[in-house]
Amino acid sequence: MLTTTLPETEIDPLSAITHPDPYPYYRELAARRQFYRDDRLGLWVAAGPREVAAVLAHPDCRVRPPAQPVPPALAGTAAGDLFGRLIRMNDGAAHAPLKQILMRMLAGLDPAAAARRAAALATVLDAGAATGTPGERVNRWLFTLPVVTVADLLGLPVAEGDRAIEVAQRVAAFAAAQSPLADAHTVRAGAEAAQWLDAWLADATPGDGPLPALRQAAEGAGIGAQAVAANTIGLLVQACEATAALAGNTLLRLGRGSSHPDVSLDAVVARVAQDDPAVQNTRRFLAADAQLCGHAVKAGDAVLVLLAAASCLGTADDERPWTFGHGRHACPGERLAQALAAATVAALLARGADPAALARAFRYRPSLNARIPHFL
Ligand code: HEM
Repeated sequence: MLTTTLPETEIDPLSAITHPDPYPYYRELAARRQFYRDDRLGLWVAAGPREVAAVLAHPDCRVRPPAQPVPPALAGTAAGDLFGRLIRMNDGAAHAPLKQILMRMLAGLDPAAAARRAAALATVLDAGAATGTPGERVNRWLFTLPVVTVADLLGLPVAEGDRAIEVAQRVAAFAAAQSPLADAHTVRAGAEAAQWLDAWLADATPGDGPLPALRQAAEGAGIGAQAVAANTIGLLVQACEATAALAGNTLLRLGRGSSHPDVSLDAVVARVAQDDPAVQNTRRFLAADAQLCGHAVKAGDAVLVLLAAASCLGTADDERPWTFGHGRHACPGERLAQALAAATVAALLARGADPAALARAFRYRPSLNARIPHFL
């Protein structure tokens, strides 16, 4: 059914995420198959920039299937409870006040200060520094430093002893459990991690940071403490895989020599966010029968929104790279994420990471939405 230059067996909108070079395929979809039904995957696919924006703006296109607010594998676990409270995973007026408070708080975090904080934390953290191959050490840093820096910026006590590593590992475990690819063991570990993070947050006395003000504002607006806690953890989760991917893909770009040595790391990260995006797609689910991009779609249908395909034809209308989404659920951590990715790469280079060697031995982690290098 696909009329692309690459045979359909070689690549599809889901295998593209971990394909060595999916961009010719994405570009062709964005230019020629902007919105279509992929019967084999059982999904509508939006690939053109206009279509991607239209789906993300459509009032009937929701972040979860209306009948399934929590993935069945997580339902009834601590991870499911937490997931169900995330603003990222909910639409509608009930979540708007907390979302507004969170957005205000994130907007108040200065990316340059965040990068400085990450650099300072990198000097005191020991992300299993001496153990494993150079690639394994890099993987650990990618999954530790951005998350720990966000926690620290919020004012959570992470900079002592092994706490930072444990927090980062628990956040990564919870993030991994949300994937449709998660097996029973990963789901169990995610549920344990959600419980652990909940207890840790409840016990933590916040230091310098916006968390007390956030809690107070939420309480003033009548928002439950559990929703605030879940979304605080949610920020760490949002910072985890995607920022690791952005920093990892930046190392690959440096390692392939596709960046001029005089170009700043911030500029390389910005280029990578556009050209080799961390988050390649997101999904929406129809809450009602509707007309979408000229097609009659049915309640319950799912749409795979190919941010990485739209990205081949330029940025979103506000110059935001498509990888950060668009519309009602667009990422509020965009600038923070880029600063943290650059700071993480800088910290790794300062510790002797060799991008050329890393780029020679890696694979992509199995994922249905993020392009995350795993260095060997
Ligand atoms: C490279 C790193 C990152 C990428 C590529 C990324 C990408 C995205 C995308 C695509 C969405 C929208 C999902 C959708 O509409 O389906 C999103 C939402 C979100 N991101 Fe990020 N993100 C990154 C890092 C961060 C960081 C560091 C934070 C905060 C600390 C953050 C906080 C959020 C939040 C709270 C949402 C939900 C917004 C809402 O539901 O309205 N992200 N992100």
